[in-house]
Amino acid sequence: MLKHILTTEQFSDRGRLNDIFSESDRFHKADQSPSGKIRKTLHDQIIASVFYEPSTRTRFSFEAAAFKLGANVLTSENAGEFSSAVKGESIEDSTRVIGGYADMIVIRHPKMGAAKKAAEVSKVPIINAGDGIGEHPTQAVLDLYTIQRELGTIDDLKIALVGDLLNGRTIHSLVRLLSKVPKNPYLYLASPPQLRLPEKYLDILNQNNISYEITRDFETVLPESDIVYFTRVQKERFVGKKQRKLYKKLKNDFIFDHDSLDIMKPEARLMHPLPRVNEITEDVDTDPRAAYFRQAENGLYVRMCLLEMLNESKSKK
Ligand code: CP
Repeated sequence: MLKHILTTEQFSDRGRLNDIFSESDRFHKADQSPSGKIRKTLHDQIIASVFYEPSTRTRFSFEAAAFKLGANVLTSENAGEFSSAVKGESIEDSTRVIGGYADMIVIRHPKMGAAKKAAEVSKVPIINAGDGIGEHPTQAVLDLYTIQRELGTIDDLKIALVGDLLNGRTIHSLVRLLSKVPKNPYLYLASPPQLRLPEKYLDILNQNNISYEITRDFETVLPESDIVYFTRVQKERFVGKKQRKLYKKLKNDFIFDHDSLDIMKPEARLMHPLPRVNEITEDVDTDPRAAYFRQAENGLYVRMCLLEMLNESKSKK
């Protein structure tokens, strides 16, 4: 039973993921068919969407998911500036209060561990919508769902994770999930040396006997990869003069352009959690292998499913 959604570890059970994939498929089909009906299973629920950091996809897709299931939504799109956090209220106190108004709380916060702190005091389910450079568990679930939809399998794949592996929370969550769920994954970890995947994630790969190689450039692994998962250099994590200088040096290090398509497998897929800044050029978008906008849309259906699962767990208590 899911009480909160805090970490990708909660999705390491393949059976649970298969249920999420099937249910997300059902939502997808119903939503896209003129005669399709979506049951308003959350009609008596209020979902609070509290974002202390900017978001387009996660916030809108959670809110759209809530509306499609019949819930009402309370939203704070800039809670860092317009909630009582500005006056010094702790995440714990804000959660205690919001939990008196809403039936579930979706939180994005710049500090790693903030969603966990909120869950420790919350009487309603908390969903971690990204906590600093920590995790983004619902993104990892939708990423794996996208792989399943695009390639028909999540097993025996060579997956290149490219870009800012140090700061990208979507990478951190996906590494955890890839370590536990698919059969026989092979990972290429492609980044500038300054943005390598942290040791603790390499430890997870090692503990789970996942084969991987660390590489400085992505072009050499493109011809081998079934999935190429690009990420942007996370500008907001480069704080201070020295770090900003480093950001400027690295931001154009990896660019996937139209020529990169020529060395990619014909049946491979290019993914990106978005936002894209300049690391994938726009002339790539029309190639059928560019899956990132489909990936973002899949987030809606996966999040509908996750909201429904949390609601069902609540009512079984
Ligand atoms: N992928 C993702 O988390 O996007 P947003 O920051 O726009 O929510």
